[in-house]
Amino acid sequence: MEKELKDTAYDAMAAMQERLKDVDVVFANSDYVAQGAYEALRDMGLEQSIQIVGTDGFTGEDEGVDMVMQGKMAATISCPTGGREAIQYATNILEQESGVPKQVILRSRTITKENADWYLAELKKETKDAGDVITMGYSQVGQESKWRLANTRSIQEAAREFNIRLLFDDANQSQEKQIAAIRRFIQERVDVIVVSPVVETGWDEALKEAKEAGIPVVMSDRKVVTEEKDLTTTYIGADFLEEGRRAMRWIRDNISPYKEEMKILELKGNKGASPTEERGRGFAEILKECPNYQIVYSEYGNFTYEEGKEIIETYLHNHVWDVDIIYAHNDDMALGAIEALEQSGITPGKDVKIISVDATREAFQAMVEGKLNCAVECNPLLGAPLMKAVRDMVSGKEMPVRIITEEKVYDESMAEDLINLRAY
Ligand code: AHR
Repeated sequence: MEKELKDTAYDAMAAMQERLKDVDVVFANSDYVAQGAYEALRDMGLEQSIQIVGTDGFTGEDEGVDMVMQGKMAATISCPTGGREAIQYATNILEQESGVPKQVILRSRTITKENADWYLAELKKETKDAGDVITMGYSQVGQESKWRLANTRSIQEAAREFNIRLLFDDANQSQEKQIAAIRRFIQERVDVIVVSPVVETGWDEALKEAKEAGIPVVMSDRKVVTEEKDLTTTYIGADFLEEGRRAMRWIRDNISPYKEEMKILELKGNKGASPTEERGRGFAEILKECPNYQIVYSEYGNFTYEEGKEIIETYLHNHVWDVDIIYAHNDDMALGAIEALEQSGITPGKDVKIISVDATREAFQAMVEGKLNCAVECNPLLGAPLMKAVRDMVSGKEMPVRIITEEKVYDESMAEDLINLRAY
């Protein structure tokens, strides 16, 4: 197979000789293709004037990394095979260990002459978790929802289970307090800092200070957007974009349009938070394929029961009720909306269909009562995957780029059967 790839690449390069005078770089989809391309360029006397970038990062003789070290390739992009991780997670599953995620996105490296030796040493490095106590500084966003309370419980319980000394700070929705907590953790020389960020941006300075102090930072539950790359190690949490898509797909597939324009009212989380922005974008992505549905009113409810209720009260004060569907970015806002509707004589789940995200036990109870129609799961039980990933990182294992939790979509047809099985 490898020889075929190499020979085919050689012939392809030779066949385009006339056009190569305008080419500066060849990108090869595998290092075997790169080998064939290199030999063709060498035979045409062009190996000095045209650079090659390959993919795979295999470490055998005359394979990707070796070709980079010999100067035959400018770089190769590693494509981790995942074998070691697959065995590790399979073992965890067999041993019924907690913390095994649904999906893990492994880290890819750009290997050049400058870092090839380091890359080979990293691959050979033996890692062993001695089980020592690890000190973790955790900056939690607040206590805004039932989901958050379950998330906090999960973090605290898992810290005990995984022998992690937890310095836990509740920021009560304040980015300023979260940044102060990060700086305090740096002063206290913790082994790792974990942040569930209230918003996506504004973290660069504090994260740079952690990087300069040599303290890894892991994002839990929510993500950040930074100007400088590599300020955080891993993100452990949900796929909020997909959650938004799932909500609108459920509407499309379960609420047939009974009029030209089905009016949707959107209750959004807090402005600038990754779940708010991405659940909104994911929902809109599917919505634009559904011409009979339209968001007619959208307001930030900050993921709280009270503000979900207030938004509906305000809407009712300023409009004759004309909404067919409510899409709430979390259960707490949906439940607050349900209370406001009932107080106004509107039957939630019947007069207006309601879809929310989180799928907490309270949401299941509302579905059992027919007041909520669908709950898209966002799993708050991140404690075990987080602590497992941190122990792996401190013991020297390479951290995946992303660790995504398992999630499903539930509706009132199954709520009765499942409510007593809910873990949060
Ligand atoms: O970041 C996750 C979101 O934050 C949850 O959906 C919401 O309930 C919490 O407040």
